Amino acid sequence: SAGSIPRLAVAAIMVTMAMVTGARADGDPRRGGQLYRACVACHSLEAGSHLTGPSLAGLWQRPAGKVEGFARYSAGLRSADFDWDAAVLDAWLADPRAMIPDTRMVFRGIAAERDRADLVAFLALAMAPGGAEAVVDRGLVPAGYARGQKPEPLTPTPPGAQVTKVRHCGDSFVVTTADGVETPYWEMNVRLKLDTRDTGPAPGAPVIVGAGMMGDRVSIVFASLRDLNNLVEEAC
Ligand code: HEC
Repeated sequence: SAGSIPRLAVAAIMVTMAMVTGARADGDPRRGGQLYRACVACHSLEAGSHLTGPSLAGLWQRPAGKVEGFARYSAGLRSADFDWDAAVLDAWLADPRAMIPDTRMVFRGIAAERDRADLVAFLALAMAPGGAEAVVDRGLVPAGYARGQKPEPLTPTPPGAQVTKVRHCGDSFVVTTADGVETPYWEMNVRLKLDTRDTGPAPGAPVIVGAGMMGDRVSIVFASLRDLNNLVEEAC
């Protein structure tokens, strides 16, 4: 039919573009490692370590949206049907939303083609099996980049941060810590959180964490929803 020739031509152009823009052999993984700093708030390269985004461990040339144990994919990425290779990553990093309109990756994209090529060269190493160790061993990134910005462990907990009692009274949360100190906080300045990781609070032993420069905002972190239910009471 008349339509098949243009389609073939388009396909040929796309393959050529993928070879030119995607599989750039000239990407500098060392510079890419520095650019990877933009990703560490949300991603770890360590297997099974999910932050805001999924662990990127072992994803090179593997299917998109299928990382085990990550429960927060957008519908679009979860149902995606492509593998992460150089060309696809280049397009993703240029504009994630253009690729997956409902994506939950809040990232404006990287405009400079050279930056993307360098980052992809780094990711080809970092997202390969064993990549987290490899990129640190080769000195491409500090260990903290590979680990990603996962929250600090909450145990062991100093007595001043160990919560023994939480009362809500009027517009205040009144927090008692293991050193016997009782401190009232305005309810709008208190966040009640769960941390179910092994490194989170011990069962029955929530932890109070400062969350503002002035020390007036805090998070109280519980090991489980049951702890939150059991340990916070309405009492004046
Ligand atoms: C603000 C947090 C955030 C930042 C910053 C961020 N990401 Fe993401 N990323 C996410 C989230 C959330 C998802 C899941 C997106 C979805 O489900 O639509 C994701 C998904 C991905 C995926 C697909 C993973 C899969 O399972 O298929 C890749 C690859 C990726 N990000 C790479 C990067 C790179 C490289 C950077 C740095 C340039 C970066 N991300 C920066 C949050 C972030």
